[in-house]
Amino acid sequence: MEASKLKLTDEFMPAKINRDNLKKIYEGKAKILYEFSGEEDKKDLLLTYFKDDATAFNGQKKGTIVKKGEYNNAISSSLFKLLKNKGINSHFIEKISEREMLTYHLKMLPIEFIVRNIAAGSLAKKMGVEEGVKFLSPVVELCFKSDELGDPMINKTYLKAFDICDPANAAKAEDIALNINEILSKFFDDNNIIVVDFKLEFGLYKNEVMLADEITPDSMRLWDKQTMEKVDKDRFRRDLGKVEEAYQRIVEITSKY
Ligand code: C5P
Repeated sequence: MEASKLKLTDEFMPAKINRDNLKKIYEGKAKILYEFSGEEDKKDLLLTYFKDDATAFNGQKKGTIVKKGEYNNAISSSLFKLLKNKGINSHFIEKISEREMLTYHLKMLPIEFIVRNIAAGSLAKKMGVEEGVKFLSPVVELCFKSDELGDPMINKTYLKAFDICDPANAAKAEDIALNINEILSKFFDDNNIIVVDFKLEFGLYKNEVMLADEITPDSMRLWDKQTMEKVDKDRFRRDLGKVEEAYQRIVEITSKY
């Protein structure tokens, strides 16, 4: 069955979360994932906890953004709902507390899909272009997820050669990523914000490619349309101040979903 036809929220709507059964299976820089140990009806589910920890430059810079976990859980939940309304399924089921969301447990593709509309960050540096230059069409980069290697950029021929994933699944994910770019660019534009670039991750759920991870100011570059002020994690990366205020602004914009 196509993922778009799955009745996602009806299928596993949890009556109650039993916290005694939560088993930590992963802790990353910004999130902790738990599975529901021993609960047969929740074997396909995960609980994601959003932390306040902030890192940059592959972990070289570390800090805390007060309440980031709450902001990112709210923003990501809202954006997953917005995308679902537009026909894009994700692992998101529901927000269950200030810092927690319930999701499907996907088999992740070990790839970061970076979509870019405007030159910034690593691409501006690599291509020798000024930050702020708009591309003639969106750029999509595939990066192999590896902290050790610094998430190197790869191309499609690496997928089969290194047995990274089925190239057909990566192609589907790329199509979805470009569709998401159109939806998010329009949504944020209507709210006076430019989507400069963002990173997405995908996984397989019942053999369907599905959006996973998070969509937050940690993983996006967002600029104010009038002032070009940054409203994202670059405020932390580049010590620009008013970091919490930036996240709060995105919470407000997305909260209608
Ligand atoms: O650093 P770079 O310019 O390559 O980042 C491009 C976009 O992808 C930014 O929005 C950044 O926040 C996001 N990104 C991410 N996680 C990474 C690498 C990039 O969220 N590991």
